[in-house]
Amino acid sequence: MAVSSYLNTALKAAQKAAEIHKRYFNNNVDVRTKSSHFDLVTQADLEAEQAIARIIKKEFPNHNIIGEENEYEQTSSPYYWIIDPLDGTNNFVHGLPIFSVSIALAKDNESIIGVVFDPMRGELFKAVKGEGAYLNNDKIMVSKNKSLKQSLLITGFYHDRSHAMKRTLDNIYNFFTEGIIGLRRLGSAALDLCYVASGRADGFWEFLLNPWDFAAGSLILKEAGGKITDYNGCAIGLDPASIVASNHHIHNQMLDILHRQ
Ligand code: IPD
Ligand code: CA
Ligand code: CA
Repeated sequence: MAVSSYLNTALKAAQKAAEIHKRYFNNNVDVRTKSSHFDLVTQADLEAEQAIARIIKKEFPNHNIIGEENEYEQTSSPYYWIIDPLDGTNNFVHGLPIFSVSIALAKDNESIIGVVFDPMRGELFKAVKGEGAYLNNDKIMVSKNKSLKQSLLITGFYHDRSHAMKRTLDNIYNFFTEGIIGLRRLGSAALDLCYVASGRADGFWEFLLNPWDFAAGSLILKEAGGKITDYNGCAIGLDPASIVASNHHIHNQMLDILHRQ
């Protein structure tokens, strides 16, 4: 099967999810809590995942699906679709227009297709392994900045409010004392990775992300010349992981700060 047919399926599914986001955004969406009062899920998350899974199952009935909101029967296929139907649910619920849908196809523990779509800005980030990364029709590259001091960084937090939160806050303090230009917390890890991929930021880190948060964005970042590892500088697979992502040049400088006590 040609890779382009996988990409077309991912694009079709992302478009469908984006329509669902737009239908519910700022329109009395039904909100429920999951593991805690700050872990939210809406009708838009659930409907978008159903729609994406329906499209994938129709076109590739044997492929596996890993989605944030549902469990799927496992097959013997080596192909895994990894879906975050709405990345940035807390923003979505508050009417803050920063969120996305993230869809990846992985084989042998590695993403080979990645699509992240921001419906509010009409920005479609996509990558096929070995073929570069694109924002809409334009090829994207990470920034050329080599200095941590000249860097704009992004972070994320909230599902763990104990040890990981404390460590993230210490990291933030240490980055600022190092003299970074600035730090942003935008609320959609998939978009955070795409923003590093497109040179809008120089680096991103976050504790304990799930594979659906980074499976598509990590491929887009790598195809744009960036680097992504865990906190020890080791390659990540498709298990939950703490993520350090950068334009490559500042990666070791970021790891040094992240390990500073
Ligand atoms: C969340 C977002 C957020 C990140 C959280 C994720 P969700 O995903 O990516 O930026 O900080 O760790 O869980 O719950 O909105 O899909
Ligand atoms: Ca997510
Ligand atoms: Ca989500």
